[in-house]
Amino acid sequence: MTLDTPTLNDAEIRQLAIRLDRPVVLVGMMGVGKSTVGRKLAALLDLPFVDADDEISDAAQLSIEEIFERFGEAYFRDGERRVIARLLEGGPSVIATGGGAFAQDETRAMILERGLAVWLDSDLSTLVDRTSRKDNRPLLKGGDPAKILAELKEKRDPHYAQAPVHVISGKGPHGDTVTRILGALAACL
Ligand code: S3P
Repeated sequence: MTLDTPTLNDAEIRQLAIRLDRPVVLVGMMGVGKSTVGRKLAALLDLPFVDADDEISDAAQLSIEEIFERFGEAYFRDGERRVIARLLEGGPSVIATGGGAFAQDETRAMILERGLAVWLDSDLSTLVDRTSRKDNRPLLKGGDPAKILAELKEKRDPHYAQAPVHVISGKGPHGDTVTRILGALAACL
């Protein structure tokens, strides 16, 4: 659902956190703000925040770029699936996933079964703008980032659309997106 909901007050946010019985899993394209939004959302809900890419990187003792470079994408996806499986067992939390995770059939099925998936969705120009601020995304290095993002978005959007909650992450502050997620979660729990 896409919602323009009123802001929840502190008591409503506490109630929402109590009703959550599984991890909230943020999915969506690179540059949509999953990590920043996830951290803020977790703080408000007083839940742990975990970034799946950081966990993969810690487990491998390598950066995401190094994993792609040395072992390739298939190896990364395998590690990603295993790390997300472990995080989904950890009780209520907020998990930010890498942009490709929910496009992987097994990983997506697991998230849909054991988590509450929230699709953070931005238009292409926002994604191009936000991803241009960092140079650490292996999939954007092989050509024109705008073209690659457009192709990935077209391919992945039907997968992201399977998430039960859909929230737009616009060009405005990430805090606005967090507010929209809280409203959407309150409406569906
Ligand atoms: C990827 C997105 C990245 C990271 C990896 C692959 C993707 O995470 O997992 O570079 O396939 O879209 P972010 O979405 O946090 O950039």
